[in-house]
Amino acid sequence: MNQRHLFQVAILAAAVGTAGTLWAEEASDADRVHRAEPVDWNQGGGEQDAALHLEPDIENGMDVYEVCAACHLPEGWGTPDGTFPQLAGQHRGVLIKQMADIRAQNRDNPTMYPFSLPQSIGDAQALADVVAYIESLPMNPAWGKGPYGPGTEEYALGEQLYKDNCVKCHGEVGMGDVEKFYPRINGQHYEYMVRQFEWIRDHKRRNANPEMVEQIKNFSDKDMQAVISYTSWQPVPEEQLADSADWKNPDFE
Ligand code: HEC
Ligand code: HEC
Repeated sequence: MNQRHLFQVAILAAAVGTAGTLWAEEASDADRVHRAEPVDWNQGGGEQDAALHLEPDIENGMDVYEVCAACHLPEGWGTPDGTFPQLAGQHRGVLIKQMADIRAQNRDNPTMYPFSLPQSIGDAQALADVVAYIESLPMNPAWGKGPYGPGTEEYALGEQLYKDNCVKCHGEVGMGDVEKFYPRINGQHYEYMVRQFEWIRDHKRRNANPEMVEQIKNFSDKDMQAVISYTSWQPVPEEQLADSADWKNPDFE
């Protein structure tokens, strides 16, 4: 293990405290050192911490969101074909972490990268603001679902895989964990999730949680499709959804 990695493991362990004991051990695994440019999945600090603690200005957040709307749509719903993820409904901490990771190039997103930069939208305050605005948006009631609905063999397989491998982090119905930066995955588009899952499994999404990578390393493509399809069929609390799939964001009419 080289010096840099030792240092990273040390600050990583310090930053996450007790919540991180499990994957701090993971991170010291010799295997991880040899992967292509791994990054510590949640080193924290910097603008991520700053943005989490700033008082958001939602008016400015709306101004910042204008550029995001070009891809994620004015409603924040992304696209069911999975090109753009739904942002509405995602946890505040997750949105801030992913933005900070994309800006720091810890998560590759060449499409969005230039639009995410401080020169384009502003510093940590802009992150806090835009995320507060996103939080005000209701979710898409017609998100992209997987091909295997309830009653199919694959749904049953997905359910079993989900219970055995995902519940402990993403929760019973995929609500994630606000405190631990675990994303909610219910209500997210199937195609987007399949891409992310595959990238996490194959070490392409560099900011992925090493414990999740370990958990899913033996998943075949069939297992992956089954478990993600199952996830995409889980319910979203009614009060978080827009009244209709035709709802338009009045701020951008
Ligand atoms: C040019 C198109 C484009 C623009 C503009 C854009 N994004 Fe994105 N964004 C994407 C794409 C594509 C992805 C998914 C990348 C992938 O598949 O890994 C993404 C992913 C994200 C994610 C990660 C979601 C998750 O579930 O992990 C967040 C958060 C995000 N965008 C927020 C924003 C915000 C806020 C803005 C405006 C400041 C913005 N994006 C502007 C294209 C864009
Ligand atoms: C040890 C905890 C853990 C386990 C177990 C786990 N995940 Fe994750 N998952 C995470 C974290 C944390 C992230 C976000 C990583 C990051 O910040 O980039 C994530 C990200 C994801 C994403 C991408 C979400 C997005 O918005 O981009 C999907 C999809 C996903 N997980 C599905 C699953 C499924 C399905 C399982 C079970 C087969 C699973 N995960 C098991 C912690 C976990």
